[in-house]
Amino acid sequence: MSSVPSQNQRVLSGMRPTGHLHLGHYHGVLKNWVELQHSYECLFFVADWHALTTHYEDPGDIAGHGWDMVIDWLAAGVDPGSATLFLQSRVPEHAELHLLLGMLTPLGWLERVPSYKDQQEKLKEHDLATYGFLGYPLLQSADILIYRAGHVPVGEDQVSHVELTREIARRFNHFYGREVDFEQNAERAIHKMGKKNARLYRDLRRRYQEQGDEDALDVARALLESQQNISVGDRERLFGYLDGSAKVILPEPQPLLTAAPKMPGLDGQKMSKSYNNTISLREDPDAVAKKVRTMPTDPARVRRSDPGNPEKCPVWPLHQVYSDESTREWVWEGCTTAGIGCLECKQCVVDSVLEELAPMRERAREYEDDPGQVRAILSEGTEAARDMARDTLEEVRRVMGLVQR
Ligand code: TRP
Ligand code: SF4
Repeated sequence: MSSVPSQNQRVLSGMRPTGHLHLGHYHGVLKNWVELQHSYECLFFVADWHALTTHYEDPGDIAGHGWDMVIDWLAAGVDPGSATLFLQSRVPEHAELHLLLGMLTPLGWLERVPSYKDQQEKLKEHDLATYGFLGYPLLQSADILIYRAGHVPVGEDQVSHVELTREIARRFNHFYGREVDFEQNAERAIHKMGKKNARLYRDLRRRYQEQGDEDALDVARALLESQQNISVGDRERLFGYLDGSAKVILPEPQPLLTAAPKMPGLDGQKMSKSYNNTISLREDPDAVAKKVRTMPTDPARVRRSDPGNPEKCPVWPLHQVYSDESTREWVWEGCTTAGIGCLECKQCVVDSVLEELAPMRERAREYEDDPGQVRAILSEGTEAARDMARDTLEEVRRVMGLVQR
């Protein structure tokens, strides 16, 4: 159980605009998003500014790649009726929060984020000794904190960015969540909840503070979430009062680690555009069949009559993803005894992939044929996101002393 404020059940995640997505994205990320949207309030956005942090010299068609990516999200089943979809650069509030957070972010924190040096090494062809690249994870923090998101679905490589976000939030609350009469104000706020809820809040707070009861903390937070008749400020106070520190203006998010089953590519390596071993979500059926049929197999199976070893064949990992147990037994048996041919074996995979992709291709076509619909989804999403972002920013400006009386 979490021991830090996760103020709400809001989920936020972003993706850099890479253009057409492939099965690796689907199995690694999108399937997860599609599930999350049923249980959480979800915000998903195209991190187009982030694309510029590494590719500023030759940005290419960032907008076009973002467009294709959004169509793939929709094709994969992300539902604009339940999730909010938008483009980062259309919500300039992210940039203002980024600037303001920059004021309190120690340089060392950014320099120590592992991806800073790693990516500089990896992307040698780009000069990443830039201000924008150093600020990459802080921009990401602003993306998250501006929505006060509780959960951030990310892959392993991004966990350190969420960790930085938590540290920044803590530092922010420490500086700006202080009030002269914090305790008194908190007590007054408790009172406003009504007798019954006030008693419950006090009881939960005591259980957490005296006994470290994390469940009590979670219940207390849920209680605060459900309060209709207290102000935002009072809610922040009472969140902070639970562990006695200060007002929680920016809640600390939790990473929601995507247990990414590494999607195998056509050559046995992980599926990735840079290995040129992908099947895209809108891949033409003939191309899918061809790509799978021309996959390398166990080199020991030169002739149909030579038995093979699935462990030495890149087709086998695809069966792990797509085939049920009895099919996998059939493959194992047939391969090791030369009972089946490789084309037969591969056809199973082809059929499964095509079955998975068929509804996606159909949905994608609908959106391709009606770009106005995609534009409408994005502009509605942007409006909704901006409303939330403005709320947070107003509070941030106020506590940082920027609002005129
Ligand atoms: N950096 C993330 C990636 O490369 C993309 C991203 C940008 C993001 N802002 C975010 C992810 C906020 C989660 C939350 O995948
Ligand atoms: Fe690979 Fe299947 Fe051929 Fe065996 S039968 S080598 S698992 S493609």
